[in-house]
Order: sequence, then structure tokens, then C-alpha cells
Amino acid sequence: MTKKRVTDEQRLLHGGDYNPDQWLAYPEILKEDVVLMQKAHTNTFSIGIFAWAALEPEEGKYDFEWLDEVIERIHSFDGRFILATPSGARPAWMSKAHPEVLRVDASRRKQLHGGRHNHCFSSPYYREKTQEMNTKLAERYGEHPALLMWHISNEFGGECHCDLCQQNFRTYLKEKYENDLDQLNDSWWGPFWSHTISDWEQIESPSPIGESAVHGMNLDWRRFVSHQTIDFYKNEIEPLRDITPEIPITTNFMSDNPEFTPFTGLDYSKFAKEVDVISWDAYPAWHNDKEDTATLASKVGFLNDHFYAMKDQPFLLMESTPSGVNWHDVNKAKRPGMHYLSSMQMLAHGSDSVLYFQWRKSRGSSEKFHGAVVDHDRSPENRVFKEVARLGKAMEDISDKVVGYQRKAKVAIIYDVENEWALNDAQGFGLKTKQYGETLEKHYQAFWDKNIQVDVISKEADLSKFDLVIAPMLYMMSEKTAEKLQDYVKSGGTLVSTYITGLVNESDLTHMGGWLAPLKETFGMAPLETDTYYPSDENSLEYNGKIYAINDYATVIEANAASELAVYQSDFYAGKPAVTVHAYGKGQAYYIGARSEEPFLTDFYGELITDLDLKPALDVTHERGVSVQAREADGLKTVFIMNFTEDLQVIEINEEVTDIQSGETVHGRLVLHPYEVRIVEK
Ligand code: GAL
Repeated sequence: MTKKRVTDEQRLLHGGDYNPDQWLAYPEILKEDVVLMQKAHTNTFSIGIFAWAALEPEEGKYDFEWLDEVIERIHSFDGRFILATPSGARPAWMSKAHPEVLRVDASRRKQLHGGRHNHCFSSPYYREKTQEMNTKLAERYGEHPALLMWHISNEFGGECHCDLCQQNFRTYLKEKYENDLDQLNDSWWGPFWSHTISDWEQIESPSPIGESAVHGMNLDWRRFVSHQTIDFYKNEIEPLRDITPEIPITTNFMSDNPEFTPFTGLDYSKFAKEVDVISWDAYPAWHNDKEDTATLASKVGFLNDHFYAMKDQPFLLMESTPSGVNWHDVNKAKRPGMHYLSSMQMLAHGSDSVLYFQWRKSRGSSEKFHGAVVDHDRSPENRVFKEVARLGKAMEDISDKVVGYQRKAKVAIIYDVENEWALNDAQGFGLKTKQYGETLEKHYQAFWDKNIQVDVISKEADLSKFDLVIAPMLYMMSEKTAEKLQDYVKSGGTLVSTYITGLVNESDLTHMGGWLAPLKETFGMAPLETDTYYPSDENSLEYNGKIYAINDYATVIEANAASELAVYQSDFYAGKPAVTVHAYGKGQAYYIGARSEEPFLTDFYGELITDLDLKPALDVTHERGVSVQAREADGLKTVFIMNFTEDLQVIEINEEVTDIQSGETVHGRLVLHPYEVRIVEK
């Protein structure tokens, strides 16, 4: 296929974190980089992420010349740069002269200088200094034709418990509780263990050497940490918005590792509102010894669909590794072909980029063995380099069939980080088996296996565009959310929820008088008690004449107006309903009382998929481990057919499509080699 020329707006971004400031004493390396960048078919570099010490070597003394040069080199081959603000790591002079920038941990220990990502979000000096630095960057580079975007700091996270942060926490609480300590004490269930607060100054953030049992306070503290972090970010971007209003702003989000579930350190649903483009750093441990590649691929799909749904628009993969990382327990190399496949998967789920950490392996310090495009051998003949170049070429070829293409989904799964905070705090149920993120990923997989696209949404999202909404383990539920779900079902939606749902309000106080009325009305039943299992406990449910094992949780249900779809097989609730459905308004609500994983979820959702006539991305028949995902624009679909198994897969495509890369028509039988990807148009 002849390569079409793509404009900047159309092209997919390929490249990544570039740290020339580590190589300023090696000018030949910087020259070599430009040659290799072109050989690798890369076009975009995030620069300056941890470069504060190079940009301001002494307080008030700036040096931008090296950066000018790097930028010109990138621009010389029509490359683009994403310019980072360097606040993710501070120079040593700053910590020495202004120790207020150093964090205090939950045990009230002031940290020493070192590491990164550990500044106080309240420090007036750091706030002023980041603005000063960002002003200079914006003034110097804001009009550069190769500037694509701002990359604010790096992977915001963590918390500070210094006196300034304590004061800000108290101010935040005063505002939230309208200066009324009675409201606060009620929300925090103050009289418990004599924890009533009689003066705002008595409030101290949660600590292992102090308070940790007041769940309402824990929740407010996490909300405050999110608030304060976002506030710091907003302070950082002020000069950028002023000087470069046209340049989009992002900051790189992440996942919780090693589980590979949504990040719980901050409320991204709030942070997402403040960025123009979502970007995230994905480091799945492909080829691990716990789960097969397909299961992991489904989790990657889940996280991508979570980031896509945050703004309902394409996002950027800001960091990934072309080979292994350096911080998994075992840092396995990606097998040949896996880099191509896993990168294409990101594009399939809505990323407009494949960017790496990092362009060139460092020579020293802790990341010297982290995978990178250029290895210590500096060779373009290196296996990893060649895989990157092959991907880069393919990305150039498919750009105009991907950029501008959206994701569409009729199914939504609700993920709520506040719920996860509260659920994990709950001293009850199984302390190790709540696994909210993992549970959601298991529900998601039932759809991934069948190529039904899903949005992973927040509880604030508009539900009206979905035929099916799934809200597992929504333990914390306000009246407002309960009413929203009720309205959704009333007006024709299908809702699925599970055990441990709707038990506490937004302050983590239990609802008085049992389940909330809107939930009782919607589900037509009442959950009476939740039984928790040891791993050795055995029980099962019967659903459609088949028996499915259950584990961890079983809710004893009073069916009332709902019909029973499954019944427990043993224990004191044998013969009682385990799964119910209730027709309500124009819709219906399902309640899954027990935790039963595959194959129950596959069969249960399989039936719903048929009943609701939910359509896959492409009409295709295959074994488990093949994934088909699509992006669409103007009635055209770009469909990625991906084999996540190590076996040859013979699949059947039941409609006529065109291979975008080869131009050939594909219909009927198609053989996919291990890790192969075919990209077709429909
Ligand atoms: C990310 C971080 C990068 C790099 C990478 C290594 O979390 O943003 O700077 O350290 O991890 O995998």
C-alpha cells in the first residue's frame, strides 16, 4: 500500500520520554539520537520531565540553551515535542534552602531530599517557584511550531502531612461542613471511642501513630488529598493558560500495580475535568506466571476503556516499555511480536499514541536497566529497536484510519474510586477478598471475550446512552446515585448490581433502616445479610439448570416482587434466591447475590447480550484469547483483530472487510499467527 502523507493533526504520535539532560556531557549521544529517532519512525518526544536541575542549576540562574538545541534537533526532522513542567523532581539546592518543600509522612517524619514526586502540595514557595518556571517555559517555547502539548509534572500522587497541609485540611473541612462541628461529628460518627471534636485545631490527618479508625475522616482526608493535588496542578497551569491558551494540557495518569487495576491514590474522575487530554502510563506484566496473556489483555482493555470514558474522547499512551521494566518482581522481556500487538491494542481502545519510557536507557542510577528504545549497545539492529521501528512504520501507514476515530459502547461498568476507598476501609466482610477493581475487571472480561465494547464510567456519567449499566459492589451509594440508577431503569435501562452494594452513604455511614428505598423499588428485593467465606468453604448456585461454584460472598435475599433466576445449593440459605431480576418501569434490574466468576459471568452476561441484542465490533467467530475492537468515524470502522495467545488461531469473519495494510479483501477463514494483529476496515 502506498504511504499517504499525513498532516500533523492526523498523525499518531510515536516516541516518548526523552531525557537529554542526562546526556549533556555526551554531545555525540545527542547527535546520534536524532539519527536513531528517524530510523525508529518516531515523531514525538516528551522533554524536560525531571530537568529542573539542568534548567535552573542555581536559584534564579536559568539555562535554557541546551533545551533550545534539543528542540531544534527534534524539529529538524519534523518531530514534535510535548514539554513537561519539571515539578516532578526538585533540585537539591531548593530542598536545602527551602525545606518547606519537603513532605512530612503520615508518621509525621519530615523527609530528606531525594527521590522524586515528594514535594508538599501546600508549600507557598513551591507553588510560586513552579509558576515562575512555567512562565519562563511558556514565554520561551509557547509559540514554537513543534510544541504539541504541556505535560504537567509527572504522575501526581502521594500526600503530605506537614503543618501547612494540616491547616489546609482544616480549612477544607470548615468549608465542607459549613463551619459547623456538629455536622462534622455526625459525619465522622464522633462519639465512637470518644472521638468527638470540640475545636477545629484538634483535627489531625489520619496517621498510624494517631487516628485511623474514623472512616468518615479517612474518606475526607483522601478527598482533601485529591483536592489539594488538583489545586497544586491548577496553580501550575495558570501561567500556561495565560500565555499559551491554545496549547492543550495533560498530566500522566497511572494504574495501581501490580494488580493492574484503577489508580486509587487520587480521584481521577475529578482530575480529568481539569486536563484537556487524558494520558496514562501502562506497564502490564505481559507473560507473568499468574495469568494468561489474554486475561491480562482484558485488564488492559478495561483500563483503557476507563481512561477513554473519562472525557469520552481519545487519549494518549504517555509511557510504556518496548521491552521489560525494572520494577516488576521479574522483569521479563516482551516476547517477539508482543510489543507490536500490545501497542496496537492501545490504539484499538482509543489511544492516539504509543509513547515510551524512555527513548534511551540511562547509563546510571536505578533505571539503567529499564527497557528503552535505544539500548546501551546504541544499535538500530537491536531486536527491541527493530520492533519499535516496525511498529512506527505501521503507525504511519494506519494513521489516517485511526486519528479522529472514536470508540462507541452500549455497555457501561461503573467504577467509583470513593467507593473503593470506603470499601477497603470497611472492617468487615473478608478483609482480603473485597478486590473491587479485580471484580470489575472480571465482569468486564465477559464482554471483552465477546468483543462487546464497554465504557468504564464514573457514577457522575450520563447513563442514558447505555443499554446496560453494571454497578458491582457499589458499597458506598448516596441517595442521589440510588435515584439516578432508579431513573435509568425506569426509563428503560437494564441494570446489574451485586452483593455488597448500597450499604453506606457518602460519609461512610450505614443507611438507616436497611436498603435505600430507590434500590428496594428498583430491584424489587432486599439483601438481608452478607455471608463471607473462607477459601475452603464450598457452596454453589443453580442457574438455568447448571451448577456454578461461588466464593467469598453470598447474600441472603428476600425476593419480594423480583423473580429468582438462581438459587443457592447449600448452607442455611439453600433453596433461597442467589440471583434475581425485577421488571421496573420500562427496564429491568438484576441482582447477583454471590460472587461467582467465570463461567457464571460468561453465561449470565452471554444471555443478556443476546436479550439486549448487543452487537460485537465485528461479526466474527473465534476461540478465547482473540480480541476484536473498533474505532469509528463517519460510518467507517477501523477494526483491530488481535491474537493474544501463543497459538495459531483460525477464525471466521462473517462479513466482508478490507485489510487496511495490504488492501486485500478478507471474508471467511482467517489464520492468525501467535500475537498477530490484522487491521481491517468495515
Ligand atoms: C513511571 C514514571 C517514569 C519511569 C517509569 C518506569 O511511573 O513516570 O518516569 O520511572 O515509571 O517504568
